[in-house]
Amino acid sequence: MLKKRELIDPFNRKISYVRVSVTDRCDFRCSYCMPEKMQFLPKKDVLSLEELNQIAAAFISLGVEKIRVTGGEPLVRKEILNFFEKTGTYLETGHLKELTITTNGSQLERYAEQLFEFGVRRVNVSLDTLDAEKFKVLTRFGRLQNVIKGIMKAKEVGLKIKINFVALKKINETELFDMLNWCDRNGLDLTFIEVMPLGNFKAEHRLSHYWSLMDLQNDIKSRFTLKAIDESSGGPAKYFRVQETGQKIGFITPLSHNFCGTCNRVRITCTGELHMCLGQKNKTDLREIVRSYPGDIEAIKIQIEKAILQKPQSHSFSYQHNKVTGQLNRYMSHTGG
Ligand code: 5AD
Ligand code: SF4
Repeated sequence: MLKKRELIDPFNRKISYVRVSVTDRCDFRCSYCMPEKMQFLPKKDVLSLEELNQIAAAFISLGVEKIRVTGGEPLVRKEILNFFEKTGTYLETGHLKELTITTNGSQLERYAEQLFEFGVRRVNVSLDTLDAEKFKVLTRFGRLQNVIKGIMKAKEVGLKIKINFVALKKINETELFDMLNWCDRNGLDLTFIEVMPLGNFKAEHRLSHYWSLMDLQNDIKSRFTLKAIDESSGGPAKYFRVQETGQKIGFITPLSHNFCGTCNRVRITCTGELHMCLGQKNKTDLREIVRSYPGDIEAIKIQIEKAILQKPQSHSFSYQHNKVTGQLNRYMSHTGG
């Protein structure tokens, strides 16, 4: 009998999760993510939906069970729902366990219903402040009210929501308890994220906004009791239960506490680069294969299998000794969050 093909990296980690960035464009310009005058990629460099479908199919047949669609802002990509429709069929056949999305929420009101229809059950929404004015400044273009409406609509259609809150000193420090409370009242999970040195930002900019989640966690503990939950999606988040409210919160701490040992994921950019690690340069071009051998899923699979053998052990981000190391010039919106 033929041996089942699966993706095992050199550190014996099984790769079962792929994050696909479907566009580098975004209708926001969050100040920690992109510069105000962001240079976007030429359209011809970006994979077509058909090419994205083929790459997704290749990963699924190599044992990948979870796909997260990211960006930029995935819902600003024209006809992106076709990708959900097509890839969603693997949920029905049982080849895929989860199809999900990370979004800034701006278009969620419009698309929540269809996302649910195509099999999406959970959505991550990036939301760093509940103050409308601050939101406008932080995102440069965003309107908080649209995001809130999107979240409420998503809830209404039955999607489970997790808020991603990037912890930023001097920006959202004062909102910690407001955000906790708001998520609790609205039945939303909440994950805190440390800001990573991605993109062409000055070191001082990163350092001055870096808010260690160890500090943030201590702030929470000054008012609440946190109990660790022994639950891991193989992902980087560590989860806790707030005893007093029962709500679940997560911490993603790439800087203060490395979690790469259990990494189960790789990322595909909208141009078809396969990145083995968010925080390292190793990458393989899948676009070249997809465009040279149209429809040849096996050719893509072989390229993926080769690439996984190059997956590095860990990222090398650090802010220790007040210095930024491991910085990468590519933006989060390029690799996908
Ligand atoms: N560090 C940490 N998180 C970031 N995001 C964007 N840029 C960064 C960064 N430099 C977050 C967004 C979103 C997710 C996709 O990544 O806020 O929640
Ligand atoms: Fe857009 Fe997300 Fe980057 Fe903000 S963080 S600019 S919403 S991709």
